[in-house]
Amino acid sequence: MIKVLMVCLGNICRSPMAEAVLQDYVQNSKLADKVYVESAGTSGYHEGNLADSRMRKAAQQRGYKLLSRSRQFISDDFENFDYILVMDSSNYKNVTSLDDGGHSHKVFKMLSFSESHKDQDVPDPYYGGEQGFSHVIDLLEESCQNFLRFLEKKLS
Ligand code: 4NP
Repeated sequence: MIKVLMVCLGNICRSPMAEAVLQDYVQNSKLADKVYVESAGTSGYHEGNLADSRMRKAAQQRGYKLLSRSRQFISDDFENFDYILVMDSSNYKNVTSLDDGGHSHKVFKMLSFSESHKDQDVPDPYYGGEQGFSHVIDLLEESCQNFLRFLEKKLS
């Protein structure tokens, strides 16, 4: 089993969305029973909460259901996951600063898997309007599609 952890700051907007998108693609692929996806936040501010209602609404409009509850990233996650995909540079810094066992090679920025977007960061939609949430889904759909192809190649 390949284990993938999506990480953002609050684990209520971007990373639960990334979890749902990759999960959806995996379920409809040859890797359906070979890839496990979860998400976490570098902060514990929203521990136990469902995803933000605006993110859930945008997700539903695009055919996704966000069911996971927020939890904080812990250093054990470095052992337990094969790929840790972070949403922005600040997440990257926060996650890698917790690594004291040489696991940082497992940490990738989500948009390093995007070909059409030059930005490094999936923008945090929390303080913005509705449009920001659907933009997050656009970025995640392209990146997750490419990430899945990357896994398929690796396993073939
Ligand atoms: P996320 O968005 O990192 O995509 O889940 C945020 C959610 C909450 C906060 C910041 C970002 N917050 O500061 O409460």
